[in-house]
Amino acid sequence: MTPRIAILGAGPSGLAQLRAFESAAHNGAEMPDVVCYEKQDDLGGMWNYTWRTGLDQYGEPVHGSMYRYLWSNGPKECLELADYSFEEHFGQPIPSYPPRAVLRDYIMGRVDKSDARKYIKFNHAVRWVEYDEKTEKFTVTVADLKRDELIHEEFDYVVVATGHFSTPNMPHFPGVESFPGRVLHAHDFRDACEFENRRVLLIGSSYSAEDIGSQCYKYGAARVLISYRSAPTGYTWPERFDEVPLLQRLEGKTAHFADGTSEEVDAVVMCTGYLHHFPFLPDEFKLRTGNRLYPRGMYKGVVSQANDKLMFLGMQDQYFTFNMFDAQAWFAREVITGGYELPSAEEQAADIEAWAGREEALAEPNDEIDFQADYIRDLMRFSDYPEFHVEEQGALFKAWLEHKAEDIMGYRNRSYRSTLTGSIAPRLHEPWLEIMDDSKEYFLANNLPKRKARTDEQVLSRSERTDKQTVRPRQRTATRTR
Ligand SMILES: Cc1cc2nc3c(=O)[nH]c(=O)nc-3n(C[C@H](O)[C@H](O)[C@H](O)COP(=O)(O)OP(=O)(O)OC[C@H]3O[C@@H](n4cnc5c(N)ncnc54)[C@H](O)[C@@H]3O)c2cc1C
Ligand SMILES: NC(=O)c1ccc[n+]([C@@H]2O[C@H](COP(=O)([O-])OP(=O)(O)OC[C@H]3O[C@@H](n4cnc5c(N)ncnc54)[C@H](OP(=O)(O)O)[C@@H]3O)[C@@H](O)[C@H]2O)c1
Repeated sequence: MTPRIAILGAGPSGLAQLRAFESAAHNGAEMPDVVCYEKQDDLGGMWNYTWRTGLDQYGEPVHGSMYRYLWSNGPKECLELADYSFEEHFGQPIPSYPPRAVLRDYIMGRVDKSDARKYIKFNHAVRWVEYDEKTEKFTVTVADLKRDELIHEEFDYVVVATGHFSTPNMPHFPGVESFPGRVLHAHDFRDACEFENRRVLLIGSSYSAEDIGSQCYKYGAARVLISYRSAPTGYTWPERFDEVPLLQRLEGKTAHFADGTSEEVDAVVMCTGYLHHFPFLPDEFKLRTGNRLYPRGMYKGVVSQANDKLMFLGMQDQYFTFNMFDAQAWFAREVITGGYELPSAEEQAADIEAWAGREEALAEPNDEIDFQADYIRDLMRFSDYPEFHVEEQGALFKAWLEHKAEDIMGYRNRSYRSTLTGSIAPRLHEPWLEIMDDSKEYFLANNLPKRKARTDEQVLSRSERTDKQTVRPRQRTATRTR
């Protein structure tokens, strides 16, 4: 009998699952009965920018954590989908670090070439998933947000693709209650221009801190301080930028740090990461993990140990993203359609322990990249997901790390070679630090041959760029005392 499958979420992971089934159907397999529930009104997940923060128009928690002026923080050559190159989508090579809207356009491109949209129910928020041991079926309860009605549907399999960078991990620091300025989590950060001429304190020293700090610098913050818990980022930051040990307390506007130093700040942004959060899953199905490369609880990082008809996609910490989600989705498809028979529970547990144990022994970022590449290579053994030279992409990631270490404000000016097409990306037309317009139109107009750009009515000419685009980094106005 054709299995009935619920996919929860239509971000890159959920879309990968739809694509995996469609690809098999294209090769003659039967298309299973698939329904994808997405609480937003469009697909793309995190890449679907929203100006909203807090709750959306239906009272649902806003999913998006992306902000204006966000550019890819890794080379696009390392996230290229094996069956859909950037060159195929844009008709020619584009620079290695595109802004958010350009990456979203690419994600949409593969979807628009397929029938995927017809399986997605937008404005449908999953409320609860329950499994009946007798019928061996899941009942998925979903809120149709537009109608304000609950729906209950039965499925044989559930694929959870709801992401894990949406629910803020929000620590408390003494004095934060009476801090006379903005305190927010990175999840709610939308526009660096808000902090022009302000002194911004960022807590955390990972990707959000380094990127939000860079954005604030780029758009004219007076001062940027990164306060780290375990270790500083170690990059050579420009003037107006410093790294300090962990915040201990706030007294009025004065932030006190673990090394006894203090400094006045105007705003605090908690770049303290996210929680894996599954309010729609009963306790026995919840994934309980931090942000790591090999969370326990899933065989091959996909199949729940609690129920092998329950799958998770994209729950790992991520160097690789879109193509890793694809490899996982293709594997999940094989499990669901019987192309791959799961080993015994004991063998699954031993496999999970071996991978998780290996992760715990990793010493440095290059090893982490190799580890995730090995994980993807392992997954690809079980399906026909096309070759995309994951190890070569790993080498690009290692180069990316070096380029960041050389110049944290300039690494996005670099170009890399696509492992799919062999083309080397053109350079950005201007240094990233000087490009203030992150729109798709501006990017394509300036990074594709002019002949093509002139035919595009939406292209902005240089004179049409906004005031913000003329802002340049200001001189240091530090008041920090050591
Ligand atoms: C600030 C930020 C910047 C990033 N930048 C990059 C980058 O430059 N390059 C990169 O490769 N990756 C980046 N990432 C990682 C990014 O998360 C992945 O690229 C990708 O979006 C993950 O896809 P996903 O489908 O697993 O999750 P998501 O993209 O988060 O999609 C999950 C989907 O599930 C839906 N959903 C959630 N709960 C429910 C529910 N209860 N019912 C129905 N639908 C639900 C959401 O609305 C969403 O559409 C970034 C992440 C963040 C937070
Ligand atoms: N495209 C882009 O430019 C861009 C921008 C932002 C984010 N992202 C993506 O978003 C994802 C999430 O990145 P993230 O940086 O938000 O999360 P993250 O990588 O999980 O890092 C969380 C950070 O918060 C710190 N932290 C956690 N709890 C803390 C506490 N109580 N006190 C002080 N510090 C604390 C951690 O410190 P320890 O090291 O001590 O644990 C760590 O530095 C990544 O995949 C990243 O690639 C991309």
